[in-house]
Amino acid sequence: MLSQRIEEAINEQIMWELYSAYLYLSMSTWYESIGLRGFASWERVQFQEEQAHALKFLDYIIARGGRVILRQVDAPQAEWESPRKGFEHQLEHERLVTSKINDLVDLAIEEKDHATYNMLQWFVDEQVEEEENATAILDKLRMIEEGGGSGMLYMLDKELQARVYTPPAAEKSA
Ligand code: FEO
Repeated sequence: MLSQRIEEAINEQIMWELYSAYLYLSMSTWYESIGLRGFASWERVQFQEEQAHALKFLDYIIARGGRVILRQVDAPQAEWESPRKGFEHQLEHERLVTSKINDLVDLAIEEKDHATYNMLQWFVDEQVEEEENATAILDKLRMIEEGGGSGMLYMLDKELQARVYTPPAAEKSA
């Protein structure tokens, strides 16, 4: 059984994952509006990933006999100055999510909840990937901006178009 503190903290994290999904869906529609279909498609995959993260936490609460209480999800930002600003925002947001996951790990240790601690390790690894992905694209966008090449932006848009959603189902379920 989950302690009250852990149950509440995971319910709060479900909100953060859904907010992340909402934020990336908003970015996707913004990229669509400025003609960057590959960026839009990449963010749509990100939206799906975040929904899967929320469900992973939700299913974990249920598996441990807890109660899921969904919280209000704020409206996300609707537009950005440039793709580079979009990815700066994304990286900053993922760093915030990483800090939330780290807080959850600290709480699991404090509460001596080994099962929750184990479940969270998947998210610890996932956050490394999330920050790495955003950083890699941001680095390219910085290079493009410095080189002043819209042709390069076109190439990056094509590259991002190739991303496909892979559900985390095959991995050890939480
Ligand atoms: Fe669910 Fe992007 O962290």
